[in-house]
Order: sequence, then structure tokens, then C-alpha cells
Amino acid sequence: MNHRKLGRTGLKVSEISLGCMAFGRWIDEKMSFQVLDTALDAGITLFDTADVYGRGMDIGDPSLSGESETILGRWLKGKRDRIILATKVHGRVGSGPNDAGQSRYHIMRAVENSLKRLDTDYIDLYQVHRFDENTPLEETLRALDDLVRQGKVRYIGCSNFSAWQIAKAHGISALQGLERFESVQPQYSLIARQIEQELLPFCRSEQVGVIVYSPLGRGMLTGKYRLGEAPPEGTRAAAGEKRLQSLMAQTDNFELVDKLKPFAERRDCTLAQFALAWVLNSPVISSAILGASKPQHIMDALPYAEQKLTDEELAEIDKLCGISQAE
Ligand SMILES: NC(=O)c1ccc[n+]([C@@H]2O[C@H](COP(=O)([O-])OP(=O)(O)OC[C@H]3O[C@@H](n4cnc5c(N)ncnc54)[C@H](OP(=O)(O)O)[C@@H]3O)[C@@H](O)[C@H]2O)c1
Repeated sequence: MNHRKLGRTGLKVSEISLGCMAFGRWIDEKMSFQVLDTALDAGITLFDTADVYGRGMDIGDPSLSGESETILGRWLKGKRDRIILATKVHGRVGSGPNDAGQSRYHIMRAVENSLKRLDTDYIDLYQVHRFDENTPLEETLRALDDLVRQGKVRYIGCSNFSAWQIAKAHGISALQGLERFESVQPQYSLIARQIEQELLPFCRSEQVGVIVYSPLGRGMLTGKYRLGEAPPEGTRAAAGEKRLQSLMAQTDNFELVDKLKPFAERRDCTLAQFALAWVLNSPVISSAILGASKPQHIMDALPYAEQKLTDEELAEIDKLCGISQAE
């Protein structure tokens, strides 16, 4: 497993990280442990979860959130020093007015709850899950800075932020002498390339680490779904994941997948390996967070590293995606 630097920091992260969103939501603890063991054996060091991941996300009961952190915490025993633990705060975890968002009040409670569930003294990367329009950024950054000073958090990051939102936060951090967001976690894949416009150039310029989620388009870029056919049993599409269903409602995503398959075939690799190699082709990406609901998904992904895409292939793919490069 190769490692890359997280932005300007000295921290090195595995270029494939493991997403823990499935734990307690689509797979039970036993299967989660098997996935985690396989990931660690494969050399993955970065593990990404969130306080909201769990069954509560689907059944509309936020008090049932947190199962992913709990499972990860049980598995972590005796392995804490070998992994980089990333979690998030912001999503609704209860029905009270302060049970969501990025107020100092909520962050201070949320971090204690995450630490308890994860059964650890510290979080390596604490990320705000999305931009909070209702809380001054300074309040959020001061609270996060305090957590770093207290030793509860090592680095802070954000997720689903645009370039201007990070720039604004960085300005406040610089002016007030506070910790700054060292990473961002956006969605990025062959079927979700929006961040190429602003966010990636910004992160390259400001040396912000980029840890991308859903590099396989939530499973679409494995080629296992077919237009007009019922999804295979046991998949997230069959379980009714709303965001995946909205990707599957776009016919052009299926068309693109069909056009990409010959690229993988020519290289004698799977579409998933090709999709991962494509995401990691950009040096500004620090890590791609793979979602796995079976140990086999990790083993299937690993040969991605043998694929080095050529300039011709990249240009052809841009054309397929309707992206024209500046002259
Ligand atoms: N910050 C955010 O807002 C945000 C949002 C979403 C995700 N995330 C993070 O990113 C992580 C990854 O997201 P994701 O799960 O959407 O990523 P993904 O890697 O795009 O999709 C993973 C899914 O693809 C399928 N898959 C993977 N390998 C396969 C293989 N070899 N053969 C067949 N199917 C395969 C599996 O689907 P089935 O399980 O259906 O078989 C798996 O659950 C999450 O766990 C979470 O940590 C963050």
C-alpha cells in the first residue's frame, strides 16, 4: 500500500482508506470486523467514520446513530497505534435543538460521545461533516482548536465544503492563530467530477489534503447495476440507499459506465480497479475512501495500484465525460 502526505501536514495516509459507513447499517458487527481485519492486513491505515453512521440514518431515528463508531471502537482494541482514526461531527444525533451543527455546545458534547463510542482518548482527524450556515465559523474553529490543545484531536478537517468556504475558514484561522482545516472530504469519481473546477485547484494551491468519498460511485462504477434491471440482492441499491438510487435514476451514468468498461477490459482489470486508479491518478488526492461491505471488496480493489493511466486514456475519458481541457 502506498502512502501520501495529507496536504501540508507531516501525516502520511494510505492512498486507499476504509469507509466505515456500512457498519451497523448494512452489515453486522461480525462482517464489519472481517472487513476491518482485511483492510488492516492489506496495509490500509486510514479509517473514516462519522457520529451519524448507523441504522438511524435510514429509519429516521437519530438517537440510533453511532453504531459505526461503536463497532470500530470494539475492533480497535490493541490496534489503536496502527491506525489513523477519522470521524465527523455535524449531523443530527438527537431530536433536541442543539443535537446537530457546529456550535461550541454541540461539538464539545459530540466529541465526548464519539470518544466514548470509539473507546479511545484521541481522534486523529476530526472533520466537520458539512458547512454550517447557522454558526459563525470562528465559534466552530475555536472549539476545534480547543480540542487540539486538549489532546483530544490531532488534526481538523472539513467535508463537503466548497473552495470559498475553506478559504474563509483559513482566513479566520490565520487571523486568530487557530488550527486550520488541513483536509477536505468531497465526493469524487468518474461520475462525480464537479470538484475539478474549483476545489482541486484550490487544494493544490493551499496544500489542503483531499480525502475523497464514493470513488466507486456507491457501487455504480463496479458495473454491477444494469439499466432497467432490479439491483442484485444484498446490495445497497436493493436496500434502498437514497443517494445511490438518485445516481441510478440518471441514464447517462449507466451510459458512461458502459463506455468505460472497454478501458478496463483493455487493461485486463476490473472497472472498480480502473475507477480507483483514475481517482488516484491526481497527485492532489491524498486518499480515496473505499466502501466495502465484504472483505472481498478490498481484495478486489487492491490491484488498482498496478494501473498507471496514460495521457491518451485520460484525454479519451475526459472526452467521454464531456470535459474539455483548456488549450
Ligand atoms: N463525507 C460525506 O458526506 C460522505 C458521504 C458518503 C460516504 N462517505 C465516506 O466514504 C466512504 C465510502 O463511500 P461509499 O461506500 O459510497 O464508496 P464507494 O467505494 O464508491 O462504494 C462502495 C460500494 O461499492 C460496492 N463495491 C465495492 N467494491 C466492490 C466490488 N469489488 N464488487 C462489487 N461491488 C463493490 C459495495 O456495494 P454493496 O455494499 O452494495 O455491495 C460498496 O458498499 C463511506 O464509508 C464513508 O466513510 C462520506
